[in-house]
Amino acid sequence: MLDEAAVRRVDRSGAAEHLKALPDQVARGHQQGLGLGPLAANRRVVVVGMGGSGIAGAVVSAWLAASRGLAVIAVNDSKLPAWVGESDLVIAVSYSGNTLETLAATREAMARGSDLVGIASGGTLRDLCSGHGLPYLPIPSGLMPRSAFGFLFGGLAAMFPDTTADVKTGSEALRLRGRKLTPDVAEAKNAAKKLAMRVKGRTPIIYGTPTYGPVARRWQTQFNENAKVLAWASTLPEADHNELVGWAEDPTAKRFVPIFLRDPEEAADHRAMMDATRDLVKGKAKVEEVRAEGSTLLARMLMTIQLGDWTSFYLAILRKVDPTPVAVIQKLKERLAKG
Ligand code: F6R
Repeated sequence: MLDEAAVRRVDRSGAAEHLKALPDQVARGHQQGLGLGPLAANRRVVVVGMGGSGIAGAVVSAWLAASRGLAVIAVNDSKLPAWVGESDLVIAVSYSGNTLETLAATREAMARGSDLVGIASGGTLRDLCSGHGLPYLPIPSGLMPRSAFGFLFGGLAAMFPDTTADVKTGSEALRLRGRKLTPDVAEAKNAAKKLAMRVKGRTPIIYGTPTYGPVARRWQTQFNENAKVLAWASTLPEADHNELVGWAEDPTAKRFVPIFLRDPEEAADHRAMMDATRDLVKGKAKVEEVRAEGSTLLARMLMTIQLGDWTSFYLAILRKVDPTPVAVIQKLKERLAKG
């Protein structure tokens, strides 16, 4: 069902090749970003972007908060927080360079006199940066924004000081793990194929600790866009104070598949909450648990993203939908562009 021929038949736009390129993208994006220098060192930083671009900011923010105690604010909106001002750095990330919300926030940053950097493959964001002599990181064009995650993440990470060792370990780990997830690896040995088979027919709800929140969100959005299914992401411990009741009492719980993203170094209280929640939910729905491996937090976060990307890809194949097109997003953008 998920052999290479079946994959080729459904993956008409070649999403698999982009998934394979993730480790290289991270390394190349980072290398290129280093050229701009550590622009984000020792200051307040806001990363603004939507969807497949915005998630890069959220992942960087969660990683740097947990590993270095840095406060990087990820914004997925056309509005910047009111406190952003002249002394702050705003990094605008838009793969197309034409997303309305990101451009509105970029113009707002300019009006407030904030320092600004653009990351895009072209479009209006590139023109704004070149027109105003602002630093700009060009990303290769011709991809879907979410397929350029590695470039966007790597480039963004490079703007913070001393990220080279972490990013190198991360991209190496992705390279090794990636080989076990590609379409030529049979189902029995392919964790992403196996998980896609188990998820099929149910709605995924992905849980992580706050550090893994953006990773869970990436899983959700990849299920949404690649497999074209509804999915949600949520974080613990917050969900223990509300959603848990739904799991315990909603008679439709079996239609959903809770996926717990686990990290071997999660804090003891988080571990206890994750274990207890998983055990309580177990009686109500079939539970999935994904245990990250890797020598650093970043490697584990990136490898978990990689597994989610491939799982959503194989779910698309099982559902016989080309993972790449997201026609309805395009339609909405066209309508909004007309005003
Ligand atoms: C499409 C995708 C979308 C876009 C979003 C913002 O692959 O993932 O979520 O990323 O619509 O567009 P860009 O990234 O061009 O600013």
